[in-house]
Amino acid sequence: MAKQEDVFKTIVAHAKEYGFVFQSSEIYDGLSAVYDYGQNGVELKNNIKRYWWESMTMLHDNIVGIDSAIFMHPTIWKASGHVDAFNDPLIDNKDSKKRYRADVLIEDEIAKFDDKINKEVAKAAKRFGESFDEEMFRKTNPRVLEHQAKRDALHERFAKAMNDNDLAELRQIIIDQEIVCPISGTRNWTDVRQFNLMFKTEMGSTADGAMNVYLRPETAQGIFVNYLNVQKTGRMRIPFGIAQIGKAFRNEIVARQFIFRMREFEQMEMQFFVRPGEEMHYFDYWRQWRMRWHKALGMGDSKYRFHDHEKLAHYANAATDIEFEMPFGFKEVEGIHSRTDFDLSQHEKYSGKKIQYFDPELNKSYTPYVIETSIGVDRMFLSVFCSCYEDQDLGNGDRRVVLHFPAPLAPVKCAVLPLIKKDGLPEKAREIQHRLRFDFTCQYDEKDSIGKRYRRQDAIGTPYCVTVDHQTLEDNTVTLRHRDTMEQKRVAIDELEGMLAAEVSLNSLLRKLL
Ligand code: GAP
Repeated sequence: MAKQEDVFKTIVAHAKEYGFVFQSSEIYDGLSAVYDYGQNGVELKNNIKRYWWESMTMLHDNIVGIDSAIFMHPTIWKASGHVDAFNDPLIDNKDSKKRYRADVLIEDEIAKFDDKINKEVAKAAKRFGESFDEEMFRKTNPRVLEHQAKRDALHERFAKAMNDNDLAELRQIIIDQEIVCPISGTRNWTDVRQFNLMFKTEMGSTADGAMNVYLRPETAQGIFVNYLNVQKTGRMRIPFGIAQIGKAFRNEIVARQFIFRMREFEQMEMQFFVRPGEEMHYFDYWRQWRMRWHKALGMGDSKYRFHDHEKLAHYANAATDIEFEMPFGFKEVEGIHSRTDFDLSQHEKYSGKKIQYFDPELNKSYTPYVIETSIGVDRMFLSVFCSCYEDQDLGNGDRRVVLHFPAPLAPVKCAVLPLIKKDGLPEKAREIQHRLRFDFTCQYDEKDSIGKRYRRQDAIGTPYCVTVDHQTLEDNTVTLRHRDTMEQKRVAIDELEGMLAAEVSLNSLLRKLL
C-alpha cells in the first residue's frame, strides 16, 4: 500500500515538473482542490475532449452538441433536486477541529477489510504457487471468511443508514467501529449533519434586488432545459442525443487524490432522449459503447470494470459506473444512468411549460426518457496519466521516465531535432518542423545532447522524434525514433506526414470505434 502511495506521489510530482498540472494559486500557497493545467496538460486535456466530442457528434448522426451557460435560473436547481438533496453528511472531530465526510470515514473502514482479505489471498498465492485456487481459498479460508462477514455486515448497516438518510446511525457506526480522527487520534466526534455541495453567489447589485444563483454542479441540467430548443430548431427525431463539455463546481469537503476530487472540474455529458419503454435497450447500448470508447485507447482491458449500482436514486431505473484501476484502487471515472423522465417532468412542473415530444410514428405526445453518460475530464486525464507513467529500467544502470500516452492523445506528436547545432542541420530541421506543424503539434529542440533531448520528449510522452543529421542534407532522409520501442529507422522526409498520421491522428482512434 505504502508503495502504491509513493508511486502516486511520484506521478503527481512528474505532472508538475513537466508542465501538466499545477496547484492553483501556488505562489499564494495554493487553493485546496483546485488545479491549473500547464502547457502539456492543456494539450492532453484538449485531446481527451476532442476524442469524446468527435466520437459523440461525428460518429452518431443523431447527436448534436451545445454549450450552455454556467449560471442558470436558480429554480432549475430546485426542480432538479439539488437544492434539497445534493448533500454530503459531515462530521467534525472536536479535538483536531477537522471536518470529514462521515460516509468516507466508513467507506475507508470497509476498504480496510478488503485490504486484509487481499493480503491473505496474496500470502496464500505466494505460498501455494502454481497450484493456488483463489476462488476456493476465498470461499473456505476461515480468516478470509471472518473478514468478509464483518465487511458485509458493516456494508449492509452503512448502506441502510445512507438509504434512510439516518445521520444518527451514521455517527453510531463511526463510534461502534472505533474510527479515530487521523490528526488527533481521538474519537471525540460531533453529530453528523448535511452540507449542500453547491456554491452560491449573487447576481445583480443589491440595490436592484440581487438574486442568489449557483455555480452549476453538473452540466446535464443545461441540456435538459435546452431540450426543446434543440429538438425543435434541429428538427431532431427521437431517439437523439445532446452532448456538452463544460465546467462544474462542487464544494467538496474531502478533497483528495490530486485531480480525482476537485472543487472546480470539467464534465463531458450526453443525454440521450428515447421513447418510454425503450430505455433499457439504449442503456445497454451506451454501457457497451462507452466501455468500447475507453478500451480503444489500448491502456489495458483489465484496468476497467463495470460497477452496477444496487441502490438506485429514486428517479433512476438502472445505473452503472465505469471504474478504472488508479494507483489507489478501482475508482469511478464515468457514470451511465437511466434517468427515466424525471428531469424533463420536473422542469415541466416548475417552469409551467410543456416539454413533450410528438412522435409522428406513434401519433402521440410523451415526455421522453433519458439515458445519461457522464464522465469527468479530469478523472479521465488522471487515469490516462497514471496508467501511462513508467519509470523504466533500461539496464546498465540507465533509466528513463516515459509516458506511454495513446499517440492521438499525446500533447506533442513529434519533436524535430537537429543532431548538432551547426552545418545547416538546424535550418533543415526547422524546415521539416514548419512543414509538419500544419498537421501535428510539433516541437523543435536543439539544446543539449541528442540523448537528453530524447529523454525530455519521453518524459512528456511524445510518440515520435525526427532527427536531422548530415545524411539528411544529402538524401532527404531522417531518423524516426519511436518512443515506446526506442527503435530508430531511416525514412524519407516526404513519407513523414503519412507515417505519422497513421499513428497519431485522432482519426485512427475514432475508426476503432466503428
Ligand atoms: N450528471 C450526472 C453527474 O454529475 P456524477 O456521478 O455526480 O454524475 C459524473 O458525476 C462524473 O463527474 C463522475 O463520474 C466523475 O468522473 C466526475 N466528477 C464528479 N465529481 C467530481 C469532482 N469533485 N472532481 C472531479 N471529477 C468529478
